[in-house]
Amino acid sequence: MLRLPGLIDTHVHLREPGATHKEDWDSGTAAALAGGFSLVLAMPNTNPPVCDSEALSSVLQIAAQKARCDYAQYLGAGAENAASISSLAGRAAGLKMYLDQTYGPLCLDDMTLWKEHFSSWPRNAPIAIHAEGRTLAAAILLAELVNRPIHLCHVSRREEILLIRAAKEKGVPVTCEVTPHHLFLSEADIPSIGAGRAEVRPVLASAADQQALWDNLDVIDCFASDHAPHTLAEKDSVTPPPGFPGLETALPLYLTAVKEGRLSIEDIILRCVMNPRRIFHLAPQPDTWVEVDPDARWEIHAADFHSRCAWTPFEGMSVQGQVKSVFLRGAEAYRDGQVIAAPGSGRNIRSHKN
Ligand code: DOR
Ligand code: ZN
Ligand code: ZN
Repeated sequence: MLRLPGLIDTHVHLREPGATHKEDWDSGTAAALAGGFSLVLAMPNTNPPVCDSEALSSVLQIAAQKARCDYAQYLGAGAENAASISSLAGRAAGLKMYLDQTYGPLCLDDMTLWKEHFSSWPRNAPIAIHAEGRTLAAAILLAELVNRPIHLCHVSRREEILLIRAAKEKGVPVTCEVTPHHLFLSEADIPSIGAGRAEVRPVLASAADQQALWDNLDVIDCFASDHAPHTLAEKDSVTPPPGFPGLETALPLYLTAVKEGRLSIEDIILRCVMNPRRIFHLAPQPDTWVEVDPDARWEIHAADFHSRCAWTPFEGMSVQGQVKSVFLRGAEAYRDGQVIAAPGSGRNIRSHKN
């Protein structure tokens, strides 16, 4: 049995409020524990989105009743809220800025708004950014101009990771994350997944892009699932929303890569625990760990998932390495397929009451 610290997923969509048929704070945090994650940072593109103090308080109230693992909630950057939300930074996981179109209404087209948010959000509080291609280049330029740290989400292409390498070499304060689906899938997998189900932003990239992520692993600070559950009926509809569930498949995929000699256990701990703590200013969770059977071979089947979305792009894949149990602050939270932690036992790590 292998013991790992509780993993941190800095990028999950829990869909509550607004779309609890896809996921809610209960099912999403149950999926997190089943995947070996003891702390998740929840994205703000809910309905309504989390863009002000009222919406933040309301989602935190839901989370307090339903979360089974520890958590924090991001605030979303909007056209009007740069000045008013900076005082909420201490209560939030960070600020999330959508600079390209994706699922939900949050998208900032006007670059003057980017600068406003970069300048008014406290410099020591995290900013996580959805930016692809040339938008990512523009975001890096602006971070350099105002000299503030930014964290770039789900980097997926060769040109992006090479640009981030160059920026880091120049001392620009950028960090980045990569998803398991961009590490383990490419556009070559779209036919077998099915075109609608394979919709995701950023899109699945070329085999060369995928290889570039592996070749530049040293530039990748974090692995983050971008767990973005949509139901199978929605994914198979004529307007499939983009997004893959990821919480329950991420660690087994990484452990399989360890077996194949493509990653080390230290690589996983660095990108799923140590760097997330550093970049997002997260205190270590006391007495919190995951027990993994590194030799267990099993097949991924969404039917076994705790996530409500009931499908996965990795259906039927054979993996090696299985989460056996999770302990959260000294208490057994998960064992052998069963979530033990009760709704409400998770803590808001940004609450000043802790
Ligand atoms: O595929 C995606 N789905 N990419 C995103 O950026 C958003 C996410 C979602 O919320 O469904
Ligand atoms: Zn995104
Ligand atoms: Zn996302």
